[in-house]
Amino acid sequence: MGPNQRQRTRPEELPDPTGSPSSSSNKKKWSNFLPVLVGLVVIGEIAFLGRLDMAKNADRVNSWADSFYTFTKRTSSSSSTSSTSSLTDEVESGYSGDGGLGDPGSEPEGSCEAWLEKEDSVAYSRDFKKDPIFVHGAQEEWKTCAVGCKFGFDSGKKPDAAFGLSLQDGTASVLRSMESAQYYAENNIAMARGRGYHIVMTTSLSSDIPVGYFSWAEYDIMAPLQPKTESALAAAFISNCGARNFRLQALEALEKANIKIDSYGSCHRNRDGNVDKVETLKRYKFSLAFENSNEEDYVTEKFFQSLVAGSVPVVVGAPNIQDFAPSPGSILHIGEVKDVDSIVNKMKYLAENSSAYNESLRWKFEGPSDSFKALVDMAAVHSSCRLCIYLATRILEKYEKTPEFKKRPCKCTRGLKTVYHIYARERGRFKMESVFLRSENLTLDALNSAVLLKFKSLKHVPIWKSERPRSIQGGDELKIYRIYPVGLTQRQALYTFRFKGDSDFRNHIERNPCAKFEVIFV
Ligand SMILES: *[C@@H]1O[C@H](CO)[C@@H](O)[C@H](O)[C@H]1NC(C)=O
Ligand SMILES: *[C@@H]1O[C@H](CO)[C@@H](O)[C@H](O)[C@H]1NC(C)=O
Ligand SMILES: *[C@@H]1O[C@H](CO)[C@@H](O)[C@H](O)[C@H]1NC(C)=O
Repeated sequence: MGPNQRQRTRPEELPDPTGSPSSSSNKKKWSNFLPVLVGLVVIGEIAFLGRLDMAKNADRVNSWADSFYTFTKRTSSSSSTSSTSSLTDEVESGYSGDGGLGDPGSEPEGSCEAWLEKEDSVAYSRDFKKDPIFVHGAQEEWKTCAVGCKFGFDSGKKPDAAFGLSLQDGTASVLRSMESAQYYAENNIAMARGRGYHIVMTTSLSSDIPVGYFSWAEYDIMAPLQPKTESALAAAFISNCGARNFRLQALEALEKANIKIDSYGSCHRNRDGNVDKVETLKRYKFSLAFENSNEEDYVTEKFFQSLVAGSVPVVVGAPNIQDFAPSPGSILHIGEVKDVDSIVNKMKYLAENSSAYNESLRWKFEGPSDSFKALVDMAAVHSSCRLCIYLATRILEKYEKTPEFKKRPCKCTRGLKTVYHIYARERGRFKMESVFLRSENLTLDALNSAVLLKFKSLKHVPIWKSERPRSIQGGDELKIYRIYPVGLTQRQALYTFRFKGDSDFRNHIERNPCAKFEVIFV
């Protein structure tokens, strides 16, 4: 198992809020409960209409309920071969027979949704407002968190999680580090799990809660360009020539190819290093962003400072560095020593053709790609808060395995049509919103439009709104970048996961009653 492949088999290792063994998965087919379900539908229907004009609707409800009861009587005596079709016919006629419930605002689908909203809202036994997630560790600076979240050393309270290997039962052990696993082997996710960490927080987007070097707050990524006044093509700030990758060979190969480099770090220094790094980089066409290891997602300030400076980064480092590019064609990547020749040619070409060079910085004028925004927006929520959201979500998942939650209907069938109840929240938030999908249109497009409609109706403001630079905040319109099942890693969510078409999505909804999704807006 590679460093960034996620083991996803650990829910039982987390604190179990119910104390019950998580084995009871006696999922019965819903059809077994159909009579009960339809009965509940009737009750739900009546309860819903009760909030409308009851007197006005009473007759219609009665007639509808009556036809339901005749239906149950008849099916119980009918032969099994024809029961399915007679069932649907009867229930259909229950709606359309007298046209009763077709009034605007009270069509059957609407009441199915009201019923599901009510029946599926089982209360969780932990209220994070009153009993916040408690993490044993130093309080850090973050403004607010979408879930009750407390850090500290209160010895009287059993923590939900603690940094370091915790021996306390029911307390999750958290590893947090921004160092490369090539220098700190423990940061390799599989290695950390093997040592007993339940939750891994590293630069890897495959870790449970990624802690990247990037954020809108840390770097003025959209800072305006300045004239490239230096005669040397590139600047380098490399403090240590020794590294466990080929960065020194790459530097020497560039020099040998007559790329003029001003070196401010102690490695091959030819300039006084006592300067403001970003201000200095702004004057150069290229910046050598050479990391000390070539590890997936390990992308440090060397890269982001180059973006701030508007100096095209020439990267030795993460093999997937293009995932971090602000737009296609905006960075150069030396993946191996033998790439140096072609990179040298590109640098020389761009240095000579000002409009081609300007192209590679177009994102500074027009804004970065959605993919880049979706990545950096992740950091709009502090990693400590994301840890609390992660813990609280896992605790709720435990409750959801209890019989009380297993009883939730999560879908409502009327005749040939079924309404599915699913939940969605924005990445970085905790609270789930109800979304309903219909069996006749259980598609990815319908998911997108239902989620968008829901969040529009809530006048939802994306969580990154106040974090992003003003020039790329956009207007009030909401735009969905990704919708993915809760529980995926950010690597999966942003890059590798897609439903394989509508039938894959339909299967997911069927297999996961009251499925929960996370949404990334851009
Ligand atoms: C310079 O770059 C522009 C834009 O990429 C391109 O259209 C043009 O052909 C290039 N000129 C030369 C001389 O290569
Ligand atoms: C670079 O391109 C932008 C538009 O993408 C333009 O506004 C700017 O003037 C160009 N700069 C140069 C030096 O060509
Ligand atoms: C299904 O959903 C799509 C996307 O929202 C919508 O355009 C289409 O009209 C819907 N079709 C039906 C039959 O409801």
